[in-house]
Amino acid sequence: MRYGHFDDEQREYVIARPDTPLPWINYLGCEAYIGIISNTAGGYSFYRDARLRRITRYRYNNVPFDCGGRYVYIRDDASGAFWSPSWQPTRHAAEDYVCRHGLGYTVIGSAQAGIHAETCYFVPLGENLEIWQLTLTNRRSERAELSIFSCVEFCLWDALDDASNFQRNFSVGEVEIVDDVIYHKSEYRERRNHFAYFACSEPLAGYDTQREAFLGAYGGWEAPQVVARGASGNSHAHGWAPIGSHHVRLALEPGEQREVRFLLGYHENAREHKFDPPGSQTIDKRTVRPVISRYLQKANADAAFAELRAYWDRLLGVYQVDTPDEHVNRMVGIWNPYQNMATFNVSRSASFFESGIGRGLGFRDSNQDLLGFVHMVPSRARERLLDLAATQLETGGAYHQYQPLTKRGNDAVGGGFNDDPLWLVLAVAAYLKETGDWSILSEPVAYENKAGSEEPLYDHLRRSVQYTLDRLGPHGLPLIGRADWNDCLNLNCFSDEPGESFQTTENREGGVAESVFIAGLFVLAANEMAELSARAARHLPGLAVDEPEGYRSAAHEMAETTLAHGWDGAWFLRAYDHFGDKVGSQSCEEGQIYIEPQGFCVMAGMGLEDGRAEQALAAVQERLATPHGIMLQQPAYSRYYLHLGEISSYPPGYKENAGIFCHNNPWITIAETMLGHGEQALETYLRINPSAREAISELHRCEPYVYAQMIAGRDAPTFGEAKNSWLTGTAAWNYVAISQWILGIRPTYDGLHIAPVIPAAWDGYRATRVWRGVTYRIAVQREGPGNAISLRVDGVPIEGDVVPPRPDGVEQVRVVATLH
Ligand code: GLC
Ligand code: GLC
Repeated sequence: MRYGHFDDEQREYVIARPDTPLPWINYLGCEAYIGIISNTAGGYSFYRDARLRRITRYRYNNVPFDCGGRYVYIRDDASGAFWSPSWQPTRHAAEDYVCRHGLGYTVIGSAQAGIHAETCYFVPLGENLEIWQLTLTNRRSERAELSIFSCVEFCLWDALDDASNFQRNFSVGEVEIVDDVIYHKSEYRERRNHFAYFACSEPLAGYDTQREAFLGAYGGWEAPQVVARGASGNSHAHGWAPIGSHHVRLALEPGEQREVRFLLGYHENAREHKFDPPGSQTIDKRTVRPVISRYLQKANADAAFAELRAYWDRLLGVYQVDTPDEHVNRMVGIWNPYQNMATFNVSRSASFFESGIGRGLGFRDSNQDLLGFVHMVPSRARERLLDLAATQLETGGAYHQYQPLTKRGNDAVGGGFNDDPLWLVLAVAAYLKETGDWSILSEPVAYENKAGSEEPLYDHLRRSVQYTLDRLGPHGLPLIGRADWNDCLNLNCFSDEPGESFQTTENREGGVAESVFIAGLFVLAANEMAELSARAARHLPGLAVDEPEGYRSAAHEMAETTLAHGWDGAWFLRAYDHFGDKVGSQSCEEGQIYIEPQGFCVMAGMGLEDGRAEQALAAVQERLATPHGIMLQQPAYSRYYLHLGEISSYPPGYKENAGIFCHNNPWITIAETMLGHGEQALETYLRINPSAREAISELHRCEPYVYAQMIAGRDAPTFGEAKNSWLTGTAAWNYVAISQWILGIRPTYDGLHIAPVIPAAWDGYRATRVWRGVTYRIAVQREGPGNAISLRVDGVPIEGDVVPPRPDGVEQVRVVATLH
């Protein structure tokens, strides 16, 4: 069953009823100011850091689930009836309800008693504010006297403190109301130099800033007393819970349409110019006033919206496809890159499953997110790579997470996740292939952000690789540390204390557990280092670069070790535990086969010649594949295993315990393409493609336009149900799998590689790829059933399957690729 439909022309998902199985959300803003908005206007906003700079308050796991947001109430002043055009929070029976989630904006509207109201929410590019553009239409045959009330609840900045430190917080709330603009300035008197504001384009009939004055004692959002009585209280918040609410009175003639704009924004003043007059406690508004007046004007707001649309046209224009499969076209052309932007921006911090107070930016997560983002805004990818590398330790290890506001490593979590540094190599290689910007390798970057410790980025990569080589276990395989990609395989922590951290409590002497997954990742990364080093010397004559041979032989040796000690007879083993026993082996009672090493070892090229790769993937299809995607491992752990860690803490079928952890499904997709299995690759890809699952939305339950981290596995009573939508490495990896491996258009150091591995039933496809300033129009035509390819570039046949760089000045290239 569907709850809406895709409008690919407009690049929107159109939700037709408010009571979706879960709130279906969108992100507003793609730079510093970010908002989350559900299809019933729930959600919140923050500046850069969802924990430390929360602008509006949100109560997770609320009742109903999604309550609190960007609410507008409309009151018919003749009858006293009131409602919200976004359905929540009043939940009246909405007529003509529609929510259109677009790229960086959301429009929600409905009609009630002949009054149609629709709000478009968006964040102008380059600004730290959001605009709510409310359009009201009187569909009645008589004049309508209406009251409009807006409302947001301010957060006292640090979202964790805001939700816990009430003895202080109930006394620090402060606001100013000047020229009809509501300013939220809690803690501005002391160390903060930032404040929020909420403004309206119309003259006000009144306002409120104290929550209980607006709602009434014991009142809820569904029936605020101010809205019910049709008059604001003009309340001034002192402590307690500051809110912002405007009251506007409008009379609409029959057929008349009116617009009302609200602006919610964040602003910083220079520390020396906080107050006006100096010495007072009044916010200096000289720099914020022009911003407010600019966007309260319709023409400027409309222009900002048009710019936002054009921005996404440009970003998505980098890679467009027309294939025989609409789910491929739509996800590659619209939603997958859009989701990649969200994961790049907020990592795993803020969604409806991530509360914004837990994690900052993850080292491994952000490096992987970058793989799906780098082609859109390479300059931001560059900056991110340098920030990430600066949280690396001198050992080559890395802080597992860092806070985006401070760009410092998170001490509470620390390092010791032994896969972390290797992802940096993959991310830098992807950046170089996309841009050819070799200069990044000689950028001086500090370790642990310590001034004076700077070394060229290249040396960070060198240390990343060395980090693994310095930590080999009894079989010569990489030590796993606290965990590798699978955060929940904690082989050096035997935790029997409730509430203890599985990752950061290390209580096994020696930490000898080894990871076959890291071995695969290492082989891939060391080979990337060889490729990169072979060219870096030429591009950067001043830089001390290693001989590629060293990396090649390290990769080769690790591959040999893996085939010798990491092969279980019919698939790759997962790990050796603390006692040297196998994990992910036929000899195990449960958890006999894991997906991660099958994907990564094959991606790293292991077993391609001797049939073991074929065998490993056949085992995946036989033992792990389901109609809803590939499970992480089988059989699921049916009880808690002290020596395995968090993985067995989950009930069977959920999360890492045999859930369909979507993040690593695309590794299998890629591996299948490496073996030339076009059908199997597309099949694997489509099983978790959200658009392809739209028709089963009542089962899937999460948004049909973005990937979720997990779909419940076969062992779960809710098999097929998705959770943790939006913030997952699934987005970047599926994008890489479909765009670079199935469709096969891959940037390389030496040109654009065209190597599609598509089903025999596809007669071809067309694509446009903008790469290094050149637009490649690619037509793939099938003549035979295989994957062998011949290329014509601007009509001229070329050798091989890589389109070499074009001579300077050439902006358009036509490529015809024939499959035989
Ligand atoms: C989560 C984490 C990621 C980890 C994965 C598997 O998605 O963000 O870092 O690799 O879980 O445990
Ligand atoms: C990853 C896993 C999750 C785990 C978390 C912290 O995000 O997906 O299951 O709870 O790491 O250990």
